[in-house]
Amino acid sequence: MKTTIAQVPKHEGKSVTIGAWLANKRSSGKIAFLQLRDGTGFMQAVVAKSDVSEETFQLAKSLTQESSIYVTGTIVEDTRSPFGYEMQVSDIELIHESVDYPITPKEHGTEFLMDHRHLWLRSKRQHAVMKIRNEIIRSTYEFFNDNGYIKIDPPILTGSSAEGTTELFHTKYFDEDAYLSQSGQLYMEAAAMAFGKVFSFGPTFRAEKSKTRRHLIEFWMIEPEMAFVDHEESLVIQENYVSHIVQSVLQNCKLELDILERDTSKLEKVKAPFPRISYDDAIALLKEKGFTDIEWGEDFGAPHETAIAESFDKPVFITNYPAEIKAFYMKPDPNREEVVLCADLIAPEGYGEIIGGSQRIDDLELMKKRYEDHGLTGPAYKWYLELRQYGSVPHSGFGLGLERTVAWLSGVEHVRETIPFPRLLNRLYP
Ligand code: 4AD
Ligand code: MG
Repeated sequence: MKTTIAQVPKHEGKSVTIGAWLANKRSSGKIAFLQLRDGTGFMQAVVAKSDVSEETFQLAKSLTQESSIYVTGTIVEDTRSPFGYEMQVSDIELIHESVDYPITPKEHGTEFLMDHRHLWLRSKRQHAVMKIRNEIIRSTYEFFNDNGYIKIDPPILTGSSAEGTTELFHTKYFDEDAYLSQSGQLYMEAAAMAFGKVFSFGPTFRAEKSKTRRHLIEFWMIEPEMAFVDHEESLVIQENYVSHIVQSVLQNCKLELDILERDTSKLEKVKAPFPRISYDDAIALLKEKGFTDIEWGEDFGAPHETAIAESFDKPVFITNYPAEIKAFYMKPDPNREEVVLCADLIAPEGYGEIIGGSQRIDDLELMKKRYEDHGLTGPAYKWYLELRQYGSVPHSGFGLGLERTVAWLSGVEHVRETIPFPRLLNRLYP
């Protein structure tokens, strides 16, 4: 019977066939240990000279890395491996012989691995990271579906920008100008007025000249938007959502976290509620911590965020930033016009901002003024303002950057390992 490694626990004591690639191999005179991978997992298969034909044993000994095979054998318990099972092989059929696979078990440099990303994805660590990415996506849909949200897909090709005009990818749309979406937010606001509570999940593009471990040119964002929800209520939704994905990964990705040697004790603490610190207090905290140069009104960089995060053992919301350094659509604090009702959620352990969110301006005249102050033009001027003209309501939303969240939960240093085919400042290949 043909099965997969993931299904192996159901077949203990039985003979099965698995289509697999050879990830690695060790052999001596009378025995060969094959490390198999089939996409669903990794497992050891043991080929004993005494159990198989001479031809099969010679084939096992000569198998090259990444050759594809059908392996048949009995599944037995193996208490020494974290997976818990191995196969005692009775037969092997070679499907395709792989010659000179470039990614050998030795150490390779990052640029070499990135040039071979199409093959590097097969490695155990990369497999673990992508499984964690998948679990975050799965638990995201679970959370929003269970809480009455509707998934709405905003367009990728747009006529205007959401997050400032300097980092846009421009393209022609027949005779018009178009841009790749930086954020679906403006459309999600329209969707919230039609469906109440909505979320999106899709790719976003920023022509950012930043070459850091937190920046991608193409990244995926989850963007919920909620009608009749104020800033404070939105923070509660955010902390419940992030707690849900963290606890889902802890529960459903034990093997993967183990492969990545992730210190899970730090993730176990990630349960709502999360601490909040105002921008004002964050400035004071930074000064105390030796950042004497920082002045009220300046934006935080990575070192500032990391220093603030170090004061807490959970993600922390930095709230009420100066309006000057935030997007045009954020609602001013009614008690203090120079700051806005917004928050960035900063992950622990130096992973930086994973969420940006705010309550949106719902007053038509103020929104018109903001549009003009920011020198914004384009078709959204008409339709986005109309959302404030016909039954405007208080509403809030936020965007969670998937790759930064994957990096944090997996404990990998750089976002380039958190997306299958990263688009970076200097990389469009493969
Ligand atoms: O803070 P940002 O720019 O917020 C928005 O785009 C809002 N319109 C979202 C909303 O309210 N619907 O981006 C949101 C998140 C950041 O917190 C970060 O996690 C991630 O997106 N992000 C990036 N991730 C990787 N590479 C980049 N270049 C990123 N830029 C932002
Ligand atoms: Mg932001």
